[in-house]
Amino acid sequence: MTPAGTPCRPFHALRPLFTADEIRARVHAMADTLAAGLPDDELRCVALLNGSFIFAADLARALADRDVHLVIDFMTPASYGGETTSSGSVTLKHDLSLPVDGRDVLLVDDILDTGRTLQTVCRLLQERGAASVRTCVLLDKPSRRRVPVTADLAGFVIDDVFVVGYGLDCGGRYRHLPYLAALPPDLAPDAPAAAGESRPDPACQPR
Ligand code: IMP
Ligand code: MG
Repeated sequence: MTPAGTPCRPFHALRPLFTADEIRARVHAMADTLAAGLPDDELRCVALLNGSFIFAADLARALADRDVHLVIDFMTPASYGGETTSSGSVTLKHDLSLPVDGRDVLLVDDILDTGRTLQTVCRLLQERGAASVRTCVLLDKPSRRRVPVTADLAGFVIDDVFVVGYGLDCGGRYRHLPYLAALPPDLAPDAPAAAGESRPDPACQPR
């Protein structure tokens, strides 16, 4: 509970992209598609933290409704570099708990942006001997791609807007929102700060 007298930090007015109902419908449609083509044997889900935690949870339960029962593990990649560096690289902050060798893997992420995260993690899982790797993302921003990666299944294809909510954040904020929203351009991480001014929201660091 907020202590008396502590003002709640107001959220900025956000432009909704997809409502909670639209997301729910899409996640269930994705589960239908996945359930039709998944191996019957125990399937390993690798969910990438932090952004996919809500999507992965809803997708796993939608698959369970269809009698597909995942063994779920997590990995936390960290991206360095980006538009201003020639080679954005991806490292691991936290690794899996379970081995993947010989396993069919469903790799789940929140959003496919430059593609570096999905490419790096896919390669890693293959190097570790995964029998197959199928990729599933909630959002796909093809206009931002820097490496040639496509997801086997994407929930929504979107323009180059910075999205928050339903697990996606900006500096840790907004993850709890039940819908997906585009941050106004002046609050997005790539927004140029005016000379002599700090960024509009200092918690939102550039990607
Ligand atoms: P990629 O390696 O550039 O494809 O980046 C993927 C990661 O960047 C995602 O898993 C997100 O964590 C983060 N990201 C990219 N675009 C957005 C966005 O619009 N909102 C929030 N996070 C984003
Ligand atoms: Mg992520």
